[in-house]
Amino acid sequence: MGRILVVDDHDSLRKGLVRALGNAGHDTEEAANGTAAIERLQDSQFDVVLTDLRMGGADGMDVLRTARKLQPNAAVILMTAFGSIHTAVEAMKIGAVDFVQKPFEIEEMELKIEKAIEIRHLKYQVDYLRTAQQDIYDFDRIVGASGALQQVLSIVKKVARSNSTILIRGETGTGKELIAGSIHHNSLRASKAFVKVNCAALQENLLESELFGHEKGAFTSADKQRIGRFEQADGGTLFLDEVGDMSANTQAKILRVLQEHEFERLGGTRTLRVDVRIIAATNRNLSQMVAEGKFREDLFYRLNVVSVEMPPLRDRKDDIGALAEFFVRRYATELKKKVDGIQPDALKVLMRHNWPGNIRELENVIERAVLLTDATVISISDLQIGDQQSASGSEKVPAIKIPPTGIALEEIERQAVLEALRMSNWVQKDAAELLSISPRVMNYKIKILNIEIPRSRRTLEPVAS
Ligand SMILES: Nc1ncnc2c1ncn2[C@@H]1O[C@H](COP(=O)(O)OP(=O)(O)OP(=O)(O)O)[C@@H](O)[C@H]1O
Ligand SMILES: [Mg+2]
Repeated sequence: MGRILVVDDHDSLRKGLVRALGNAGHDTEEAANGTAAIERLQDSQFDVVLTDLRMGGADGMDVLRTARKLQPNAAVILMTAFGSIHTAVEAMKIGAVDFVQKPFEIEEMELKIEKAIEIRHLKYQVDYLRTAQQDIYDFDRIVGASGALQQVLSIVKKVARSNSTILIRGETGTGKELIAGSIHHNSLRASKAFVKVNCAALQENLLESELFGHEKGAFTSADKQRIGRFEQADGGTLFLDEVGDMSANTQAKILRVLQEHEFERLGGTRTLRVDVRIIAATNRNLSQMVAEGKFREDLFYRLNVVSVEMPPLRDRKDDIGALAEFFVRRYATELKKKVDGIQPDALKVLMRHNWPGNIRELENVIERAVLLTDATVISISDLQIGDQQSASGSEKVPAIKIPPTGIALEEIERQAVLEALRMSNWVQKDAAELLSISPRVMNYKIKILNIEIPRSRRTLEPVAS
């Protein structure tokens, strides 16, 4: 039931309505003229405002305008005398949800009020879901403080609200889809659809129907009309995932829509125009594919308007800790387990791993660890990643390979020191530990072997000499 404001200068009608609506379980208030109604709207919230159109002083239209401004979620229903249909139509344009012509049956009014309350309730739910969904895609919720990721985010924030086509490149599992979703949800198109198409999975023979839809009877199995992806995305964003995996034929068809913004449904005669923003993603090297003649150059230039490169996880080791903690929290909640952290040793193993599967791989490793662990903190044995054996030194595999042409011992040493440093995110103390030498010796080796520490790392580790 709802809170209703009844506004009418006709006393007996107003009192009658208040009584009937009160009996039906609503919580009512009354106002004998427009000015009094506007005052009520200023100090109290209503679900429904029921107002007469023609009153002395402030009239129903004034009440409507005030309600729209102060309480945009309140449903306004107008009561009009015979002959004022024209004004009622005007009122609907300003945002009244309904109108009733006098005289009316009280049951009719009750029905309209119930409907208005239900619609209002649905609207709340939609608003709630929309903000909840947006929250997932909020740029601030993308985990990672590393320079590499922040650089990506700064580009993306700048272009999100434009209509520019964006090409997101990066290895598998680096967060391409997450970024694409964030761009859409932070664009002016956020209230419209974000439609995904996996280009690698498009079957050649169903391609056109998938992208452009078809009319009933367009081909033997077309028993009903189908709306294609381009049409679904009208006003919103179309995410073309794995664009590097399209056949030449598919590339040509996609190019045509991108150039002309129009197409026909299969078996249809009407040409449809759509307003769609394109975001494409691929883990392939498209410019190399263009050079090799495997990807159309014209399509490449259409897609590569703004280009975003997702850094691989091994180049942003600084983010591993935060991401791992984030996934521990997520899976502890999801799996209802009391796990709240990672042991420092285990974190070190995570930092040393090479992460060919990037963030998705890290996510899977953590999910499994949270599931398997009996403790509240994840330890090395819960992690089960490939590097563990070498970390615990249990396997007797030779750590180096000597080429048949031979190699200088010093070169091997150099490579070993470099690799240890890389694995330790250039923290010398950790690299020393990996090679079982003291930090002092490590520091000496770096100097003697002429190893250059990347500029961004120099200030991190002031080394005692
Ligand atoms: N910065 C991040 N913060 C939190 N979660 C992330 C982040 N980046 C990626 N993820 C998560 O990692 C997983 C992989 O990301 P996503 O699917 O976006 O990668 P992708 O680049 O599209 O991978 P693929 O090339 O395999 O399709 C998802 O579960 C995603 O939510
Ligand atoms: Mg993806």
